[in-house]
Amino acid sequence: MRQENSPRFDFDFHGPALDTIFDDYETMHEQCPVSWSEHYGGFWTLTRMEDIRNAEHDWDTFSVAPSMILPSFGTDRPLIPLDIDPPELLGYRQILLPFFSPNRMDALLPRTHDIANELLDDVAGQDVFDASVYARMVPAMVFGEYCGFPMEDAAKFDQWVEDIVFARSDDESVARAAAEEVYDYFRALITRRRLEPGDDVLSALLQADNNGRKLDDEEMLDIVYLLFVAGLETTAGTIRVALWYLAQHPELLKTLVTDPSLIPTATEEFLRALSPVQAMARTLKIDTTIGGVDMKAGERVVLAFGAANRDPEIFECPHDIQLDRASNPHISFGVGAHRCLGSNLARREVNVALEEFICRHPRFELAEPTTWHGVGRLAIRPLS
Ligand code: HEM
Repeated sequence: MRQENSPRFDFDFHGPALDTIFDDYETMHEQCPVSWSEHYGGFWTLTRMEDIRNAEHDWDTFSVAPSMILPSFGTDRPLIPLDIDPPELLGYRQILLPFFSPNRMDALLPRTHDIANELLDDVAGQDVFDASVYARMVPAMVFGEYCGFPMEDAAKFDQWVEDIVFARSDDESVARAAAEEVYDYFRALITRRRLEPGDDVLSALLQADNNGRKLDDEEMLDIVYLLFVAGLETTAGTIRVALWYLAQHPELLKTLVTDPSLIPTATEEFLRALSPVQAMARTLKIDTTIGGVDMKAGERVVLAFGAANRDPEIFECPHDIQLDRASNPHISFGVGAHRCLGSNLARREVNVALEEFICRHPRFELAEPTTWHGVGRLAIRPLS
């Protein structure tokens, strides 16, 4: 329950607030690891690894309803399985997990290399090019083809994701309009796949068994909508920020070029220190107390994964980016019942995208300053 003397910190985790979010984490860890913010209707922020891990595992206290996404991805419908609490969650996860197994993801590797190379061919010889296109298109093409999304509509998908994920904190109506179009688009696609199944995830999901029954069209839509948004933007943000960082650290770039076997460790560090998903929300089912702060049923709680990933109790020199960090127990993919289903895919996509990029461009720099976050323009100048 908020009281006069409850700790407060004006925390936001979208848009320009991301420019200074790592300074915010440092202050919050030092002064108010649990605090109240007025943004998005008001929420408690948890910043300590221990508090966030506990909350992730305690679904009797922390519900994902009405949505983990704050503010919403332009819809009041639940995203499945993200916004479903256990035990109902488990049936959905059992259906989805096999599609993201390490073996299935390994099978996508050759195509991922090809796509990365084709995209790099498109900009070959240019003095300066926008590498954010590469960062967005590698995951969009790999995952889109795997799911059975018609990739001739890739440009449309790109704009929808931009409107849903990035415009929502400024103007929710933009996200709502895009979400409506996406639902209409996938409603039509699901109908088509029911009539003419293909060799893709969407068609396979239509045949899946959920405790003795098939998924209906509304459930299918809520699953596909989540896969569409979650599968594209997050991985794109990670590839983009990795290139952004390497462009400004030639000595680290050189180390990776000389020994590409270090790329997976570097990817983990980019995920820890510069994750595209800084925080997600829960809602309290009952009154509780965390770190001496009393909270009331119905209040929102934001789990700041990005803060936990820089918790000085867990990480040595948490604000240094060490691409060879030996112990890296980050929680960028979550840790509880909702742990990210796409982590096997995301890691592979980022690793391959970096490997192919630095193989073709062993030296490059930023041609224009830009922020670390988002999936916007990243002007890269290859150097000879
Ligand atoms: C770097 C890339 C990614 C990051 C940082 C990321 C992060 C996350 C996080 C933080 C969660 C919530 C975990 C929790 O609350 O405990 C999540 C859930 C989820 N992610 Fe990812 N994700 C990424 C890529 C992907 C990809 C490529 C897909 C695949 C399509 C995907 C699909 C999902 C799904 C389906 C869920 C919901 C799982 C559930 O509710 O049970 N993610 N992700």
